[in-house]
Amino acid sequence: SQQAARMELNTADAKTTISRHIYGQFSEHLGHCIYGGYWVDEKLDVPKKDRIRLDVVEALKKIRIPNLRWPGGCFADEYHWRDGIGERSKRPKMINTNWGGVTEDNSFGTHEFLELCSLLNTEPYIAGNVGSGTVEEMSKWIEYLNSDGESPMTQLRKANGRAQPWKVQFWGVGNESWGCGGNMTPEYYANEFRRYATYARNYKGAPLKKIAAGANSGDYNWTEVCMKNIPKQMLWGLSMHYYTIPTGKWNQKGSATKFDEKEYFNTMKNCMKMEELVTRHSAVMDKYDPEKKVALVVDEWGIWTDVEPGTNPGFLYQQNSLRDALIAGTTLNIFNNHADRVRMANLAQTVNVLQALVLTKDKEMVLTPTYYVFDLFKEHMDAKLLPLQLSSPDYINGSEKIPAVNASASVDAAGRIHITFVNLDAKNAITVNTTIAGHTAGKISGRILTSGKFTDVNSFEHKNKVVPTVFKSFKKNGAALSVTLPRLSLVSLELE
Ligand code: AHR
Repeated sequence: SQQAARMELNTADAKTTISRHIYGQFSEHLGHCIYGGYWVDEKLDVPKKDRIRLDVVEALKKIRIPNLRWPGGCFADEYHWRDGIGERSKRPKMINTNWGGVTEDNSFGTHEFLELCSLLNTEPYIAGNVGSGTVEEMSKWIEYLNSDGESPMTQLRKANGRAQPWKVQFWGVGNESWGCGGNMTPEYYANEFRRYATYARNYKGAPLKKIAAGANSGDYNWTEVCMKNIPKQMLWGLSMHYYTIPTGKWNQKGSATKFDEKEYFNTMKNCMKMEELVTRHSAVMDKYDPEKKVALVVDEWGIWTDVEPGTNPGFLYQQNSLRDALIAGTTLNIFNNHADRVRMANLAQTVNVLQALVLTKDKEMVLTPTYYVFDLFKEHMDAKLLPLQLSSPDYINGSEKIPAVNASASVDAAGRIHITFVNLDAKNAITVNTTIAGHTAGKISGRILTSGKFTDVNSFEHKNKVVPTVFKSFKKNGAALSVTLPRLSLVSLELE
């Protein structure tokens, strides 16, 4: 059946920039994200630079990923950067206690990560070790990375083959310091942040954008204490983590590929909690920072399911379905619409872990439905947000309901408008009747990502089951635009 939604836009409202950093990614030393993902065996017969896999790099370059967060996650607070520099055969090994207890050989370290970022043409976002590290260790890492002066650290960098500083700017001071990053109270963490951040120096041409480890989903007190106790001029951003768990239960999260409509609905309901989280964390931040100088950085988000049967439970490997794409689109629409405060975000975790963009198996590579969402949405990056009023019919399941349609819109430097729509309804197509005040009819083109079932995936056998195709179900008449979104679909429109 068919239902209707109503949406209003006005080109005169385009004021806030949607930071491209909302489209950031996160890659941890976890499972096969780094090792066996980006960084492969010398003998693997794929195009490589050193041991970096170039087919993965090429795929990610196409969606212009703006930044990459590394080395964790929980791993960051056990990582000692000096173990990951110098001749590889001499680097000490360690146990990755967070993720499967496997041996980490430190062959992928600072130089390798920054080479990956340069191949990806993306900005590095490094999370420093607060939990088990020292102020000196973090301070020296930054000197090693960013100073062009004369010091033992810069000499060491040069001896390791890098003359120029890298000028890394995004700097995380710990990760999940309320949990795996040290089990701290917010008061204790805020003090630690002040101490670590003091010695996280700004070198020439490389002013750091320091990001405090933020709240676990709805822990508004964490945000409150950090905003109250950390001087604003020390903070570029404050983070927040939220994962969509299909069942809502950490001990049995639900399968990535086998679920019914009830579980699909529940997952989308949990995903939409992001709207409430960014609204309420922003409101707390507004109390201390009404000018919105400090960014809310959602540097871990995505769906977290049970691992694929037969895989290492510590490796967090999950398939990625059309449901994941609908989560990504809905979440990115939420972030775009909150671009005044949300100025950075990082999907967890790019390759082979959680809501991945890319899955690899030996020589093979698959681009997931989520990858194609970043492709459909990429024109929003650094464009001006067009705030929208949207009234959507509900998607009803039993006694519960959620809005079926969500959307965001922006206007780019060339004056083109991009609108991204998501229809979560598993049964109904929905026509969105839109008025775009201030826009005269020009050429319109569209793309759609959809598939027969919400459980559909791109597998190594059928790599192109869920891929974007041309979309034409729209009509424009003056300022009026009507778009018919099929059930379970993501649509992006470009209006010239
Ligand atoms: O992304 C997986 C883990 O989730 C990260 O290491 C941690 O920060 C979070 O709990």
